[in-house]
Amino acid sequence: MINYKKLIQKAQNALKFSYSPYSNFKVGACVLTKSNNTYVGANIENASFGATICAERVAIDNAITSGDKDIVCIAIVSKSGDYTFPCGICRQVMAEFSSDMKVVVAKNQEDYKIYKLEELLPHSFLQKDIK
Ligand code: THU
Repeated sequence: MINYKKLIQKAQNALKFSYSPYSNFKVGACVLTKSNNTYVGANIENASFGATICAERVAIDNAITSGDKDIVCIAIVSKSGDYTFPCGICRQVMAEFSSDMKVVVAKNQEDYKIYKLEELLPHSFLQKDIK
């Protein structure tokens, strides 16, 4: 049983590390792996806007570079007070590491929605498609 509240809380804690001087839109994320470890991320913006990286990819990259690739779930929060859904690039990165990942979009620890990645990114392009 996944402790969604705990993941959301960790994602909320990561908001303070958001580097977002251009948009002032702070996003936090927390990844849970099969080995029951968690990895957080926050968005990191850049004066060259295209170099910005979303919170979700920072959290996923943290897990991957810790040698922990079996991602079970990712929780996402923002300062907007609304549900913040992952962008298309982040959905594609999620699909690389698990097509049955759960994606939790949370307003707060009490108000959240749980999706299967498959619902958010059907028919994704995967490693098996490169022949
Ligand atoms: N952003 C994320 O970090 N994750 C999302 O799911 C949506 C967008 C960031 C990127 C940029 O720093 C800011 O939010 C505005 O787009």
